[in-house]
Amino acid sequence: MAGAVSVSSMVPLFGADASGLRIFFQRNPTFVSAAPARDGPTSSLPRSVRDGQAGRLDVASRAHSGHGAAMSETDPSAVESFRAAMRRVASTVNVITICVGGERMGITATAMSSLAMDPPSLLVCINRFSAMHGSMEDVSHFCVNVLHRDQENIARMFADRRQHALRFLSGWTEDCVRPPRLIDAQASIVCRRIDHHRFGTHSIFIGVVEDAQVREEVNPLVYVDGQYGGAVD
Ligand SMILES: Cc1cc2nc3c(=O)[nH]c(=O)nc-3n(C[C@H](O)[C@H](O)[C@H](O)COP(=O)(O)O)c2cc1C
Repeated sequence: MAGAVSVSSMVPLFGADASGLRIFFQRNPTFVSAAPARDGPTSSLPRSVRDGQAGRLDVASRAHSGHGAAMSETDPSAVESFRAAMRRVASTVNVITICVGGERMGITATAMSSLAMDPPSLLVCINRFSAMHGSMEDVSHFCVNVLHRDQENIARMFADRRQHALRFLSGWTEDCVRPPRLIDAQASIVCRRIDHHRFGTHSIFIGVVEDAQVREEVNPLVYVDGQYGGAVD
């Protein structure tokens, strides 16, 4: 494809300056894999990135898009081709929930992946500018509510800051001892939060599964090419 830039040979590097976060793509970054990591696989990245400090931005100056990073100035076409590639990745849509001091909180997130079966575990990636990020760092448990095809309205609600007050009005477990569970979810997976890592604008939260419940009919809500759809014909 004329003009296309492959990002397969590029690694995003995050850095901060006075105007905020920048993501730079470095071509053929052999240094990333050259030296064995002393303190983890990202140790060749700047400490500010590993510690998540690169994401300490002028939050107020950004419209809340959920993903507040200014993208590459050095190679915008790489960012665009990555964005185009990601639009072709279909993801299930989830609402990650927690309960903090009697308050229920949640966020729509496609960045969820199983991690291991031994121990049964998964990870979710949460934007540091989202309302519940700070609390996620403190809670003992979170719940991944995998949405069913008929729950697109819930996905939209938990992705829209203006609808905070409406989010838990109906359909959810009400006690605030455990993280809220969507009663008709395609699946709901309660996890003990055991670790997290900051990276750029996001944090990766790792949970060990304590309980999983499923809705019998399999028809999860998916998000692909900027649209909601079904996974089953
Ligand atoms: C389809 C879709 C997927 C999303 N995935 C994520 C995600 O994986 N992680 C994340 O932090 N935000 C994600 N967002 C953005 C948040 O849902 C959105 O910014 C939300 O409003 C943040 O919650 P808050 O309004 O309570 O701060 C996604 C939004 C949509 C529409």
